Amino acid sequence: NTMRDFLRDLPKCEHHLHLEGTLEPDLLYPLAQRNNIELPEQFPKTVKELEDRYKQFKDLQDFLDFYYIGCEVLLKQEDFFDLAWAYFKRSHSQGLKHAEVFFDPQSHTSRGIAIETVVSGFQKACVKAQQELHISSKLIMCLLRHLPVEDCKATLESSRVLFETQQLHGLGLDSAEKPFPPELFAECYETARTFHPDIQLTAHAGEEGDASYVSNALDLLKASRIDHGVRSTEDPELMARLARDKVMCTVCPLSSVKLQVFQDVRELPLTEFLNAGIPFSLNSDDPAYFGGYILDNYVAVQTRFDWDLATWEKVVRQSIEGSWCDDKRKNELQ
Ligand code: ADE
Ligand code: ZN
Repeated sequence: NTMRDFLRDLPKCEHHLHLEGTLEPDLLYPLAQRNNIELPEQFPKTVKELEDRYKQFKDLQDFLDFYYIGCEVLLKQEDFFDLAWAYFKRSHSQGLKHAEVFFDPQSHTSRGIAIETVVSGFQKACVKAQQELHISSKLIMCLLRHLPVEDCKATLESSRVLFETQQLHGLGLDSAEKPFPPELFAECYETARTFHPDIQLTAHAGEEGDASYVSNALDLLKASRIDHGVRSTEDPELMARLARDKVMCTVCPLSSVKLQVFQDVRELPLTEFLNAGIPFSLNSDDPAYFGGYILDNYVAVQTRFDWDLATWEKVVRQSIEGSWCDDKRKNELQ
């Protein structure tokens, strides 16, 4: 298949990937067993049943209900390592070169796991991915916006040293978007900016929330990147701003269809972004839940948009340019 081969060979960067969202059903059950975790009564009992349930989600919350149950099987440092290492190996075979990956410490610290356990497991996988697969990576800690702000502040404090020592590079904001707008987290982001001069800030916005969530993430959180951002098209002034300030939107094609933000990949505003000059990257979000890793997302886009070589070169160049690695690494990626 020449289209897939062409897309596989492009030097791909992923900027929107939740490590907990890479938990495949065929790892979930063995981990539950290994850690003696009892899954909820109504939870599907087999890999096949679970895969069937993942075929469609009603909305973001319907997905998140499964995602957080999945998190419960992760307990030990090696669980976090195994999870991330499986992601790197699989994505390596799809042509991934650089990954800036999210994790949600509160899903784990709420169960009595130390944040250091989570981070050290993920970090070991990142080091191995660099050494054995030549994939560079950065860790982005996300705050769960559905939890009390006080809880988020405590999590931030517990992560301070990890940012100071640059074990963590970025801060993000995820989970249920709509009743929890960016303004609730302005203080958290202000605190995070004191942790390290090079800390990078992003936030999920404009996935289920409207364009004002994107504007407020820029104005009040001072985010330099927007995760999803697909509803920005509703506000022409915002579109002009994203283009002028070169704010990268991390678009997730298969995710947005699975969560019914759009009915088909062809409805994604990629042509609008290209025409407006807004940089974006294509990402897998939670590949174990949404039916595809990074290359599958590239293929889904090409199947609908039929871009020419020049357009793909532009998309790839913008995703390298918008990465949070240094210029030396960016040059290697070109
Ligand atoms: N957590 C994991 N995936 C997410 C998404 N797409 N939106 C919000 N929170 C998430
Ligand atoms: Zn996401």
